Amino acid sequence: MSVLTSSDDLKTKQYLHEKSHNKKYDILFNIILEKYPKAKKLAKYRVLDVGSGLGKFARTSSMFFRTYTCVDSNPTITSYAQDLTNKIYHNINFITDNIVNTCLLEKKYKYKIIISDHCVHFIPKSDIKKAFTNMFNLLKPNGLMIIIEHTIEPKGWGSDLLNKSSNLFDENIWAKKSSQLEFVHEFITKNYTHEYMETKTNRYYIMTNQ
Ligand SMILES: C[S@@+](CC[C@H](N)C(=O)[O-])C[C@H]1O[C@@H](n2cnc3c(N)ncnc32)[C@H](O)[C@@H]1O
Repeated sequence: MSVLTSSDDLKTKQYLHEKSHNKKYDILFNIILEKYPKAKKLAKYRVLDVGSGLGKFARTSSMFFRTYTCVDSNPTITSYAQDLTNKIYHNINFITDNIVNTCLLEKKYKYKIIISDHCVHFIPKSDIKKAFTNMFNLLKPNGLMIIIEHTIEPKGWGSDLLNKSSNLFDENIWAKKSSQLEFVHEFITKNYTHEYMETKTNRYYIMTNQ
């Protein structure tokens, strides 16, 4: 569904002023607009979202793109996300798929934009290289890849795993997570040319396929 009907620039403005959007998505969308400033052109691009979860960014931004493909390795999540999304947003599709052994490589097309938001640190350290190789193989020449991860402090992380009064509380969770996050940070820093930005809660790694 496209709720915005007038010019592309107006669409962009309305999007950026939409108060209900999570700030993270505004930042993400701004990064995309910096690389591809003509909103009209975005309508030609296919987006891949790796570890898309419930597809929140898909639903806030898919109207700007040609297609928006969400992959997540958890079938319960993709099925739930599909139910939330399908009837209204016609260019979003959900696929249950593990990026480490992805079936998308068999398809004939590549993606102009790949995003992965709070997913990469879940991938076992031994598989990270394969996951990145696959993502770069799925990215078009001169395509844009944006990886978002938590900062090393648990700021803004509302998980019950950190909440002492929850029965899901895990006193070792942040030590485990911060080690995974540091691994991802070092892996990207060492292996890929990228732009980097950090907010209070998130780290953004911006890469191109050149
Ligand atoms: C914390 S959630 C983030 C969801 C969403 N991107 C967001 O920010 O709201 C991480 C997601 O990554 C998925 N995931 C973890 N490893 C994956 C893999 N190897 N391939 C695809 N998805 C994966 C998980 O199933 C989970 O839904």
